[in-house]
Amino acid sequence: MSILVTGGTGYIGSHTSVELIKQGYDIVIADDLSNSEYGVLDKIKKITGIKPVFYKAVMLDRNGLESIFLEQKIDAVIHFAGKKAVGESVEKPLMYYHNNITGTINLLECMLEYGCSKFVFSSSATVYGMPKTVPIKEGFPLSTTNPYGTTKLFIERILNDLYVANKNLSITLLRYFNPIGAHESGLLGDNPKGIPNNLMPYITRVAKGVLPELKVFGNDYPTHDGTGVRDYIHVVDLALGHIKALKKMDSVGVKVYNLGTGNGYSVLDIVNAFEKVNGIEIPYIITARRAGDIAECYADASKAKVELGWAAKYTLEDMCRSAWNFEKNAE
Ligand code: WQD
Repeated sequence: MSILVTGGTGYIGSHTSVELIKQGYDIVIADDLSNSEYGVLDKIKKITGIKPVFYKAVMLDRNGLESIFLEQKIDAVIHFAGKKAVGESVEKPLMYYHNNITGTINLLECMLEYGCSKFVFSSSATVYGMPKTVPIKEGFPLSTTNPYGTTKLFIERILNDLYVANKNLSITLLRYFNPIGAHESGLLGDNPKGIPNNLMPYITRVAKGVLPELKVFGNDYPTHDGTGVRDYIHVVDLALGHIKALKKMDSVGVKVYNLGTGNGYSVLDIVNAFEKVNGIEIPYIITARRAGDIAECYADASKAKVELGWAAKYTLEDMCRSAWNFEKNAE
């Protein structure tokens, strides 16, 4: 019996694949390699001693997906594969809706056809839109401000409707906050192609001298230092949250959990922590706010603690140290 990890050569998918293997699971990775490298499989082998079964698969290729279920005995699916750049989604909404939603529907149809009833979905705190208060609880109102976030919200709704029609399913929605950091080996990490959209990979490229300076998107937010506040969580903590969720899927139904630390840090908090831990100055300039950004977003992570027995354990210093350790070694 195997766990199918779609997007398993990506940032969060690869870290989760390592933790699954370490806990004795057999895994199958399906990825289209559009935002990751085949070489990640060798890095997973270096870390775990096992090179996972791999399918170069496009979620929109229904037949290609079906061959995985024909050839492998899939017991559960952890679904990471999807486009995830907020800005790009605003420019190309149809590509995002088609790729993320149709791709997920293809996957779910294969699961139903081959009797696979456990599904963990990579959702996002972006489904909370602009929260009225923080920390954010799972029962807060849902709304989105960009097509990327809307695909996550729509897929959550599709999964709830699917359960109503198929009461034998066990579905878990994991709403990630801001994953940063890297595996302690320095072999896996966040390595986006091109100019990074997200804060930490941008900072590490400034540290490496690949980019001249960080642009801080606004310092006039109603926060302690005026810059945006987010709940940064170590990617390995996030990966371990998936294992805990998988172990609690013997009962049917739809469950939803925030995977965050419960702590909010500003952009300048991150810059200061990174400089202090790594002894590297990060030059920055303050620019205008980025369209669609919110002031403050961090989790109430108590539900995952109580029901999954999961809590984040890595510190902000661990996140900054590991992120730089990865960047230093990255090609
Ligand atoms: C964090 C903070 C920026 C870059 C998004 C998605 C979310 C998930 C994570 C995919 C904000 C500031 C950033 C920069 C900056 N994506 N910033 N200069 O926007 O909170 O979340 O990425 O799963 O779903 O919504 O993350 O890292 O882009 O920004 O000042 O060059 O850093 O304004 O305050 P975000 P981020």
